[in-house]
Amino acid sequence: VIRSAVTGVGSFLPEKVVTNADLAKFVDTSDEWIVERTGIRQRHQARDDEPTSDLAVEAARRALTDAGKTAADVDLIIVATTTPDQTFPATAAIVQRKLGAPVGIAFDVQAVCSGFVYAMSVADGFVARGMAKCALVIGAEEMTRLMDWSDRTTCVLFGDGAGAFVLEPREGQGTKADQGVLGFALRCDGSKGDMLYVDGGPATTGTVGHLKMLGNQVFRHAVVNISEAIVGATEAAGVAIPEIDWFVPHQANQRIIRGVGERLGLDENKVVSTVALHANTSAASIPLAMDTAMKDGRIKRGDLVVIEAMGGGLTWGACAFRL
Ligand code: ACO
Repeated sequence: VIRSAVTGVGSFLPEKVVTNADLAKFVDTSDEWIVERTGIRQRHQARDDEPTSDLAVEAARRALTDAGKTAADVDLIIVATTTPDQTFPATAAIVQRKLGAPVGIAFDVQAVCSGFVYAMSVADGFVARGMAKCALVIGAEEMTRLMDWSDRTTCVLFGDGAGAFVLEPREGQGTKADQGVLGFALRCDGSKGDMLYVDGGPATTGTVGHLKMLGNQVFRHAVVNISEAIVGATEAAGVAIPEIDWFVPHQANQRIIRGVGERLGLDENKVVSTVALHANTSAASIPLAMDTAMKDGRIKRGDLVVIEAMGGGLTWGACAFRL
């Protein structure tokens, strides 16, 4: 049985750090409020001349190095982003050019904060079908471009960054002990789109727009939906929740991460959290957190990992894989 396997992980954060105290200089908020309600202490912010594709390219280079591959090997690039450089071409096409990767398949996936999990499912299909031998799945976002900096209920929550996985085919026995992707659960409920959206776009206002959110309502759905996704992905993978070595959640809010952990009875020592340092980087947050926990030695080859997310759409999903 051929499965797609995560053979490399990398990430990149823009240099500039914005602390909660920095935000309190121009919006009515405080470090205490932000830390207590969200767990966020700082976020990174891209320079004006540093587009999403630049973050994506750096994360991709690091993931390729980790996998022992070069740009010349890459035949599929999927970028999960809600903040593309331009309306088109796809950011993935720009990344292909900047990386110097050969002509192959490249496109973007748009599922907001769930984008990385959705993109993984698409790449998994290509690799498992033999249509790609070396796929880059990249989550890259500059959410700070979508902020209304006078709206304290949203502008304190988000940050910029990118992370990438390399997916390659691996042959196994078809059991849960094999390296590779084991199962997904993906959902979208478009009837709840007005809980979290951007009030602009090319076919409506002709502007980029600003992020709007009913935070309380999103919060309540997040805990329930993410828990459901984790249960769905583990069932699809044929594994029980206690068998999971690591949970790498989308990093929106420490209270959401804790709420899911309590609902499912997860061991908090198995849950990776980077929200304090990165804030919510939308589709980039999962590979950023994964890279952090691999580089510091917590997550190791052979571990069973579940990634999960929820975001605008509303979309949500999870994926179980063995490293
Ligand atoms: N600083 C100080 N006060 C603030 C701030 C701020 N940055 N933002 C809001 N407040 C005030 C509000 O105005 C309100 O004041 P009032 O009582 O005088 O009206 C008070 O704080 C409480 O506001 P709530 O919205 O009830 O605060 P809550 O505890 O719900 O926390 C938060 C708000 C952090 C947005 C929370 O609802 C949340 O995390 N929701 C999830 C949303 C999320 O993470 N979305 C990310 C995208 S989706 C995803 O990635 C899962």
